[in-house]
Amino acid sequence: MPRVAASGWIESQHMRSLQATLDFEAPETDGRRINMRPIHVSKSTFQAGLAERIHRWFRLTPSFGPDLVHEMLGRMGARRGQTILDPFSGAGTTAIEAQLEGFNCVGFEINPLLHFVGATSLNWTIDPQDVERSLDAVVAEFMRRRSRVERHQLEEQGYFVPPIHNVHRWWRDDVLRDLSVLVFCIDMVEDRAIRDFLRLALAGVLVPDLTNVTLGKLQLHFIDRSSDSIEVIKSYAAHVARMADDLGSVREQGGLGTSQVLLQDSTDLSSLQLSSKIDHVITSPPYPNRYSYVWNTRPHLYLLRFMSEASEASAIDKRTIGGTWGTATSALQKGVVEPINAAVARTIEPVAAAIRKEDNLMANYAMHYFNRLTQHVMELDKIVAKNVNIAYVVGNSWLKGVYIETDVLLADILAGLDRPYEVTEIHRFRRRNSGKDLFESIVYGRR
Ligand SMILES: C[S@@+](CC[C@H](N)C(=O)[O-])C[C@H]1O[C@@H](n2cnc3c(N)ncnc32)[C@H](O)[C@@H]1O
Repeated sequence: MPRVAASGWIESQHMRSLQATLDFEAPETDGRRINMRPIHVSKSTFQAGLAERIHRWFRLTPSFGPDLVHEMLGRMGARRGQTILDPFSGAGTTAIEAQLEGFNCVGFEINPLLHFVGATSLNWTIDPQDVERSLDAVVAEFMRRRSRVERHQLEEQGYFVPPIHNVHRWWRDDVLRDLSVLVFCIDMVEDRAIRDFLRLALAGVLVPDLTNVTLGKLQLHFIDRSSDSIEVIKSYAAHVARMADDLGSVREQGGLGTSQVLLQDSTDLSSLQLSSKIDHVITSPPYPNRYSYVWNTRPHLYLLRFMSEASEASAIDKRTIGGTWGTATSALQKGVVEPINAAVARTIEPVAAAIRKEDNLMANYAMHYFNRLTQHVMELDKIVAKNVNIAYVVGNSWLKGVYIETDVLLADILAGLDRPYEVTEIHRFRRRNSGKDLFESIVYGRR
């Protein structure tokens, strides 16, 4: 397997094989700037969020855990009152944790469903008793309507059927009927904040509980659920009740901060106005593994009417970092994607050249990925404080037999920019069990 050395960060092959023999479970610093201290999956991944108030409202498998946010805030010496940015907000883990801990935080997110999840998860001004009253009304209306609905004539009876390709593959007829009626009843709630809260609850319980999919390691996979017991209204009401409990608990807590999540492309910040400069960036951009957030949130995007046509999915995917771009993939098949600047050229060209021996598309994918990531980092200059600290959680991957050491490559790009960052540490905190050398790391930098 070819390994491509990037300047500065990779030492000799000898050091590397030595490192490979280290037991990753034992806290270990390898004497270089790569720190190998593990953080357990129950703290570093989405699993941690499933057990925590607010974070458990929506499960996004690639999310990091709230503990990781603490780890980074502590490591960067963040103080209350300072402003944190998460430019790849996902389900809003950073913004939620920041608000809980008394920081101010801004999140950016390009996926409309995830933007809605993050933004709605931060509204803790709602009275849980109002939620309970609205839920009772929704359930009563649901029961009244459902008994009268013919499951094969939903649209004729004025109900909405998500225009997702092959809708019956996603939901059983009876489940689809219940979901359509439920969406209708939630839409009848007049108070906007409570309606959004109730829509978020539906998003939170939809996958995998109510949909013909399993989450696998990361991606959605279709499964046969014809003989499962799926009770839409029961699962839904239970989730709303959990969320209302969490609301009650945070409303009793003092010292909260102020967070918001904006629908915003992090690679283009030209028209953005923020009221204060960013002191710390804590984030996790997509990994270079072709995982598509849009593809994996399609059931929610269509059911909750964030999207009505497949072309919209491709258009968003095309602007994301690391997505699969649907139809735009063909654009990467032809020619050679050039590096956007000298730092990317120095760091990524050797990697892309190694991949290109096997596959031009994937070589272009790698270059495009690092171009977009670098573009984003340079755009940040418009909104960050002079002495900003950054922490990027990234994942290494393999593309066509070539090791993509994202942490090291990003560190080299950061250090090689016209306005460089001093990279203070690469902390490899987890070895993903899905493959060889698939580390996840935090890359720390400062100005
Ligand atoms: C690894 S996830 C972040 C997960 C997050 N840390 C959490 O705990 O939920 C990366 C996110 O970046 C978003 N994203 C990708 N490209 C983007 C862009 N150009 N601008 C803003 N967000 C983008 C994706 O939609 C995805 O939600």
